[in-house]
Order: sequence, then structure tokens, then C-alpha cells
Amino acid sequence: MSDYPAPDLRKPAVASTAVAVRPRREHPRIDTTDSRHVKPAAGRTEPTASTNSRTVLEIRRPTDDGTRREPRWRIPLGILGTGTIGRALLRQLAKYLTADRLGQSPLFCVRGIANSRSMWLTREAFDLRDWHDATPPSVATDIDRFLSHVRQTTDFAPILVDVTASPAIATHHVDWLRGGCHVVTANKLGIAGSQTQYQALRAASTGRIRYAYETTVGAALPVVQTVRDLCTTGDQILMIQGLLSGTLSYLFNTYDGSRPFSELVRTARSRGLTEPDPRADLAGMDVARKLLILAREAGFPLDLDDIKVENLVPVDLAQDTLDDFLVHLTRMDEPLKNRLDEANRTRGVLRYAAMLNSDGNARVGLGIYPLAHAFATTCHTDNLIEVTTERYRPTPLIIRGPGAGADITAAGVLTDILKVVDFEWHVTSRNIP
Ligand SMILES: NC(=O)c1ccc[n+]([C@@H]2O[C@H](COP(=O)([O-])OP(=O)(O)OC[C@H]3O[C@@H](n4cnc5c(N)ncnc54)[C@H](OP(=O)(O)O)[C@@H]3O)[C@@H](O)[C@H]2O)c1
Repeated sequence: MSDYPAPDLRKPAVASTAVAVRPRREHPRIDTTDSRHVKPAAGRTEPTASTNSRTVLEIRRPTDDGTRREPRWRIPLGILGTGTIGRALLRQLAKYLTADRLGQSPLFCVRGIANSRSMWLTREAFDLRDWHDATPPSVATDIDRFLSHVRQTTDFAPILVDVTASPAIATHHVDWLRGGCHVVTANKLGIAGSQTQYQALRAASTGRIRYAYETTVGAALPVVQTVRDLCTTGDQILMIQGLLSGTLSYLFNTYDGSRPFSELVRTARSRGLTEPDPRADLAGMDVARKLLILAREAGFPLDLDDIKVENLVPVDLAQDTLDDFLVHLTRMDEPLKNRLDEANRTRGVLRYAAMLNSDGNARVGLGIYPLAHAFATTCHTDNLIEVTTERYRPTPLIIRGPGAGADITAAGVLTDILKVVDFEWHVTSRNIP
């Protein structure tokens, strides 16, 4: 039986509060009253009050011919990770950077790309459409050299983008922020690290330097920002419940008893819906880290150890080799069939969920939820986050949609990048002589 609090049956089955993803802002043209470096945009007559009541001007540098901004006048980016998300991000950046911008060149450029083995560096800007073949030859990855290359010859604070899953890279986040670099990350191992590390990240990213990590929970769904905004505006979080793993969501949305659970896991693995070792998903730690990120955003000073985690992997399989685990996976079948039978008997659904209450008690694990609960409406790999607050009750605020996937996650990372670019440009460009 679930030890979650019984969900409130008076709640509507599906939330009535929708959260829209903010449209992306276009960067190149900037409204400004600072006339020191201002010229009308290329190919346009200078706007006047009679032709345009909202004067739109563009900051220009003497070296900028309007179609090509010199590298020095662009905010430099370094991308760490060329895996599933990194490759999708590079494709999206290529499209963004080559899109028609009425003759205006973009405000940022990619100066470095690295994975665990190799890095590619350029003093100019990569042509991201064929960076792998056309760029200077790669050299062995050296993070210090990567960093000093990306930040040289510019007055802008560089943006380092972490799309690895590397704990070693995550430990650099604090130093990069302290050293004056913005960090955009899909890698949750930094922000979900120890309380000491979390506090250091918070301290290093106040004011001038930004730490952006929206995609660490729910991929591109606007979850982190929403919880932050609720708290910043004085609302009080009473409860957060969420389906935070696309993999576990898929498994329990699909599991109806007609096939053994182990068979579903094998199918999901063969379709790339689990980690190569499915124990990484079934252990629940990934969900716990996401809940930790949300709990901290809501003001609870938790550590990972404070979260009660139900590990679906039987203890005797935890140390098996991957091959042995996949053979013995059938040992999960009976206990999970018993949980499913119980859910069916009580006319509920079985879901692996995260829960945080107003006392800061946090847990992740299997629970049975009535058919009237929003969790009973999910399908595929949906993530669903239900936030009950002083303002959002009795109807909670619900954010729902795909919480994983290369293109979706990469688009979330790109959104974070564009917000930081926007911020950096506004802060720094007016101070460049
Ligand atoms: N997949 C999703 O749907 C999703 C959704 C939300 C968030 N995320 C997060 O996004 C991140 C990336 O996920 P992914 O699926 O793209 O992982 P992935 O396919 O395993 O790719 C990881 C990349 O990181 C590189 N890397 C590892 N250690 C490195 C190091 N020390 N220095 C430089 N590069 C290093 C790897 O290099 P090699 O190529 O040399 O191995 C690889 O290119 C993860 O933190 C994940 O949790 C993923």
C-alpha cells in the first residue's frame, strides 16, 4: 500500500490551470536611450516620431558592418557534451545562428565544443552546420584550456553550456561562476549536489552572473521558473507532487498486467527509453534529485539524504553485472504484479511519483492514485507536476507534457542560453568603450 497521503478526491481529474512556455525573444535589435554607440539599423531610415512612435535602434560598434559582427563583439559560448542533447543543441544553434535576421548578425557565437575525449576550438565562430568536419582538428579535452580559450579577447562574460551527465564537470560550476562565466546546464549533478555546494552556487550566481538550469527538471517544461516565481511573489508552497521521470512514467502508464513488468523494461530499453543500465532509472535517485531541485527552489534546505527513496531494484540485483541484471529482471515481476493488483482492487492507478509537503517532508516512490487524480491521465513519457499553494488551491497549478527527448530538452537549453545572452548583452554592451 502506498504511504503517500490519500490524494484529495475533490480535485478535478485534470487541472484547469495551464502554463504557457514564454515565447522566445528576438535579440539583435535593442531598445535603448543610450545614444553614444547608436545608429539606425542597416538598410533602414532613421525612425522618427511620425513614422514610428517606438524608436527602435541598434547598438553598433565601429567595426560592425551590419552583416557580420566581429568575434570580439559577440558573447562567446563553450558547449560541453556532444551526446544526445549536445548534438540536438548544436543543430538548433546552427539553425538559430543562420536564420535571417534582417541583415543583423547574432549577438553570440560558439567558440568551443568538447566531449570527454576531444575538443574543438576556434578564434572565430564555428559554422555549426558542419562543425565536426570543417573546424580545426580536435585536440584532447583539457577543461582549463577550453575555458581560457572561450573567454579570451572579449569583454563579455562567456557562457558555458553543460550538456554532459558528468559529475566532474558539475563540480566546476561553482568555480566557473566565481570566475565570471555564466553557466547553462542540463546536468543536474551541480544544483542537486550537497547543501554546501548548492549554497555556493547560489552565492556565486547572484547579480551579474547567471546560473540557468531549467532543463534539469521536466526538460523544457517551465517547472523550475514557475516554482521560483511563485515563491518570489510571496506565494507559499503547500505541496508539490510530480511524475518527474519520462522512463518511469512510460513504464507505469503502460503496465496493465497483460505483460510482465520485466518485459516492459526490456522493450523500453531496446527503444532507448531507459538508461543503458535501467537500474539508473528504477533506483529512483534521478527522480529524487529532481525533487531536491524543486524543494530547494521552494525554500526547503534539503539534502538528497533527506528524501525517502523507494528503490524498485531488488536488493540482491543491485550489485549484479548489467548482463546478469537483465537476465534476473524477472524477479521484479511478482512484487510489482501484487502492487498492480492492489491498485486495480482499489480502482486506482500505479505511479512512481515525487512528493513534497509544506513541512519539507520529501519522498519518491510507488503510489496508488484514484482515477480522478491528474496522475491517472498521463500517457507515453509525460511528466506532470502539480503545485498546490496558498493561491493555487483547491485547484492546483499543473504543468504537463513530455519531460525528456533530445529536441525538446535541447530547445529548453537554447531558451536558457538566449535568456542569458539577452541579460549579458544588456549589462555589458553599454560599458564597452
Ligand atoms: N536525454 C534527455 O531526454 C534529457 C532530458 C533532460 C536532461 N538531460 C540531461 O542532459 C545531459 C546530457 O544528456 P545526454 O542524454 O545527452 O547524455 P549522453 O548522450 O550520455 O551525452 C553526454 C555527453 O557528455 C560528454 N561528457 C561526459 N563527460 C565529459 C567530460 N568530463 N568533459 C566533456 N564532455 C563530457 C560525453 O562525451 P563522449 O561523447 O566522449 O562520451 C557525451 O558527449 C544529462 O545531464 C542529462 O541528465 C537529458
